[in-house]
Amino acid sequence: SKPIGVAVLGMGNVGTEVVRILTESTGDLQARVGAPLELRGVAVRDINTARPSIPAELLTDDPAALVARDDVDIVIELIGGIEPPRTHIRTALQSGKSVVTANKALLADYTGELAAAAAEARVDLYFEAAVAGAIPVIRPLMQSLAGDTVQRVAGIVNGTTNFILSAMAETGADYAETLAEAGRLGYAEADPTADVEGYDAAAKAAILASIAFHSRVTAADVYREGISSITPADLASAAQLDCTIKLLSICERVVDADGAQRISARVYPALIPLSHPLATVNGVFNAVVVEAENAGRLMFYGQGAGGVPTASAVMGDVVMAARNRVYSGRGPLESTYASLPIAPIGSV
Ligand code: NDP
Ligand code: HSE
Repeated sequence: SKPIGVAVLGMGNVGTEVVRILTESTGDLQARVGAPLELRGVAVRDINTARPSIPAELLTDDPAALVARDDVDIVIELIGGIEPPRTHIRTALQSGKSVVTANKALLADYTGELAAAAAEARVDLYFEAAVAGAIPVIRPLMQSLAGDTVQRVAGIVNGTTNFILSAMAETGADYAETLAEAGRLGYAEADPTADVEGYDAAAKAAILASIAFHSRVTAADVYREGISSITPADLASAAQLDCTIKLLSICERVVDADGAQRISARVYPALIPLSHPLATVNGVFNAVVVEAENAGRLMFYGQGAGGVPTASAVMGDVVMAARNRVYSGRGPLESTYASLPIAPIGSV
């Protein structure tokens, strides 16, 4: 099949790793997609920053022009924030390009608008990386559990705050120093207030609640408290009670006193017993527990932030979107089971 042209907007923590995978794994990606993925360009804010991992001619500081190129089929948005990403994504979708993004701040409030543009143009808008980094949770909720009724989605969905709370609980580490370390490791948002004040977790809660309950929940609908007032002394007190403190995100169906069904979504630091499974989720790890009427309880666990794990989720979406373009939506079965060479099986 003819090559699939890919544009990457943003080459920071996540974009750098996505570009690395695109350039290092061309053969494997081509086999899985059924066509070569060709990187057409990478848009950044400062074109003068040294980026030795990429040929200079691929860099641009004009993302709009890159998105508009006829030979771009998939746009990967990894800039972050509302504008300019909202405009670039909408333009890409309206011109028939598939879009992959990790931008939870944007999706929390604009999924409806962007999904409508994708539906109208009959192209994919995928965002597995927007919630809980590497952990597959969007696709399980949207696809695997599509025939079930989800009652509750709860867990730890912010890596930075979990990294800080774990370090304070384990070693009495200093809050500000640990936050700075989370920034150096590429876990924190460009403005870490989004992490520590719970805005990032609230955006993720809005996305999870919208998908899980087939409804329109925005960040403003989510009750939010952050962790900036939690001290090592609070964590020491929690330990004396055989508890710890975690920033929880809880989305559930509730029934009002008047019998009406409602959705409750909230983010706040909670005291949880050390025996609870979420108490053992430490460092940059996240965990999401889904309770569904027929499936029962499911738990998803893994690295919730960082460029490399997040790039894995982004690239999963890119392969899915590319397959859909090559096989008109029949990609996974054909390319995985029919066209891949059979790997030799070793002795067991
Ligand atoms: P960074 O801040 O590290 O990178 C942002 C990139 O976007 C930089 O390369 C920057 O260019 C570029 N950029 C900024 N403004 C513009 C603009 N106007 N035009 C073109 N390029 C621009 O962000 P991250 O990689 O950490 O995050 C990217 C997205 O992924 C965000 O939406 C974030 O919320 C999300 N995300 C991040 C995770 C993480 O662990 N870091 C995990 C899950 C999701 P320059 O390099 O020149 O400054
Ligand atoms: N800043 C976010 C976090 C990145 O720490 O969880 C992953 O979404």
